[in-house]
Amino acid sequence: MSAAPELRDPPPAHVRRLDPILVDRIAAGEVVERPASAVKELVENAIDAGARSIEVAIEGGGRRLIRVIDDGIGMGADDLALAVERHATSKLPDGDLTRIGSLGFRGEALPSIGAVSRLTITSRTADGEGVSLTLDSGVRGPVRPAPASRGTRIEVTELFAATPARLKFLKTDRAETAAVSEILRRLAVAQPQIRFTLRTESGSPTVFPAESEPGPAALLRRLGAVLGPDFPGNAVPVDMAREGFALAGHVGLPTFHRGAASHIHFVVNGRPVRDRLLLGAVRGAYADTMSSDRHPVLALHLICDPALVDVNVHPAKTELRFREPGLVRALIVSAIHEALRRAGARSSSTGTQAALDALRAGTGTGGAPP
Ligand SMILES: Nc1ncnc2c1ncn2[C@@H]1O[C@H](COP(=O)(O)OP(=O)(O)OP(=O)(O)O)[C@@H](O)[C@H]1O
Ligand SMILES: [Mg+2]
Repeated sequence: MSAAPELRDPPPAHVRRLDPILVDRIAAGEVVERPASAVKELVENAIDAGARSIEVAIEGGGRRLIRVIDDGIGMGADDLALAVERHATSKLPDGDLTRIGSLGFRGEALPSIGAVSRLTITSRTADGEGVSLTLDSGVRGPVRPAPASRGTRIEVTELFAATPARLKFLKTDRAETAAVSEILRRLAVAQPQIRFTLRTESGSPTVFPAESEPGPAALLRRLGAVLGPDFPGNAVPVDMAREGFALAGHVGLPTFHRGAASHIHFVVNGRPVRDRLLLGAVRGAYADTMSSDRHPVLALHLICDPALVDVNVHPAKTELRFREPGLVRALIVSAIHEALRRAGARSSSTGTQAALDALRAGTGTGGAPP
């Protein structure tokens, strides 16, 4: 009998530390999956920097170019040099992971993006001089003076050129562009007071103008811009607070449904999230009024003490762990039921009325269904 073929090299004899550039490249795999994830990190940085206006431009679905320009606080030379180092952040001032008040906190997005691309940052603070720095496949250039307006301008080119395996998994330019657009829409729902612009090679730019005053009316205008002009006329406001959680937003009527769940927007403490618990609660809330192969359109903002929710579950920071998941689920279900019932009392549309009658006959006073 012949021996089995050798599939692997013999195991190496010694443990050794990996080269820091290789460490960055490995870690980057989790943070930067595709162009849209780089856009998400860069726009979140701009939001954390207090920007009022954020402009994103992409070419080739983000493969050839991602450019993000903000009018936030900017960085001086020392901050810029540190910002591209792994585990360097300005956002956890007291080092307390239970009090995360910003979108970023891991101190790894810039070094990760810079490990798998050519990343140039140009920045200026209100009273400082403009500075610029380039990271090329993880190799850092010097900080140089550069002309700049107040804020930060970031350009990413040659994304994944140094990691061909990742490059191969990217979809068509069109699909990558759609993913970038989707990320921006989610952030736009989360931050109505910020102006967002997306430029691609095709057509005129998408612009979400800033909604200056806070509140439900401004959110609804932003939702009309993001979810479509039909949404405001087919939605009802939600506003409910319970045991340290406040839920506000607008939910579509059961008659206003879609074939995919991508029109469900959840924002927790200003962060857009895709979370199973939250989606399950929405499904539960509409279970009696919508067929199971259809999905509602809605945007809900949940606000709570950061200590009640852990966002440090995955490097992309879009999953959560609630300390009291049952409470959150019950709040969402009853808030949606209550809003739809209130709408039913006012509704004159027969289709809507029939759906709402079914809802009323169904789950009684709300709360999580069994
Ligand atoms: N657009 C920007 N304007 C001003 N400062 C910025 C900007 N982008 C990044 N920075 C600074 O660079 C630091 C590093 O950014 P990076 O995204 O790598 O980490 P982070 O945002 O702190 O955490 P995370 O890895 O979770 O995103 C930030 O903490 C911030 O101080
Ligand atoms: Mg960040």
